[in-house]
Amino acid sequence: MKNTQLPTAPGPIGIFDSGYGGLTILEKIRKELPQYDYLYLGDNARTPYGTRSFDVVYKYTLECVTHLFEMGCHLVILACNTASAKALRSIQQNDLPLLDPNRRVLGVIRPTIEAVGNITKTGHVGLLATNGTVQSNSYPLEIEKVYGDNITVYSEACPMWVPLIENNEHLSVGADYFIKQNVSHLLTADPKIDTIMLGCTHYPLLEEKIKSLLPENVAVLSQGRLVAKSLATYLHRHIEIEALCTKNGTCHYFTTEAVDKFISSASLFLKEDIHAEHIEFV
Ligand code: DGL
Repeated sequence: MKNTQLPTAPGPIGIFDSGYGGLTILEKIRKELPQYDYLYLGDNARTPYGTRSFDVVYKYTLECVTHLFEMGCHLVILACNTASAKALRSIQQNDLPLLDPNRRVLGVIRPTIEAVGNITKTGHVGLLATNGTVQSNSYPLEIEKVYGDNITVYSEACPMWVPLIENNEHLSVGADYFIKQNVSHLLTADPKIDTIMLGCTHYPLLEEKIKSLLPENVAVLSQGRLVAKSLATYLHRHIEIEALCTKNGTCHYFTTEAVDKFISSASLFLKEDIHAEHIEFV
């Protein structure tokens, strides 16, 4: 049964992440599509998602998506690989038909996979991601669907990276130890890898450091630009959804954590001063 509580008027595009990582996606989306309005929701009080079970990631993600719908969004982007890997399919298949079949939720994994085939020459690609994303096996499964056995993936879980970034310790000497360890595991596991996907929206903050550890022939695929381009194409193709997205060029931020903490940490990811509001799930 359709949820009649949801606002029907056009509204902003919702961007969701477990914490701050989605801000790297939001930045590129706003650059590509500055005319739209955006609502960013970071579930900072319950981050990280990467170490949590399927059921918990699904429950938290669904709560946040529903909240964004209630705030007027008709289209929500899960700017989080862990949520895209563990919750997107269930939300699309089971929840949207009940909540409102005319609303849409999209993830960040598919645009990355569509791009990787144009870049790898050896057909060997690496994935750096959270434990949750690696365990879900979503990247290898989606790659197999698109490329069959022409591309093989080796996945490396990097459980320390998100906490290091969220604590602003990612450029420290201590962080180097973990980053080198994971990158070298990946390259040793499959020396033919020529493309590495950063499968976590936090990782663009480590991009330069990662690149400095790689041989020159290895490309690094960061998601922001890919997701932004893919969203532009999506809106162009789906005029019925595009018509439900308001266009005043605004962006509002919401967090489940304390606002002061969100604003000070968000400055790591954004180059502008922002205002944020606290929300709580009851
Ligand atoms: N930014 C999320 C992702 O892309 C992970 C952060 C977390 O573990 O909550 O996977």
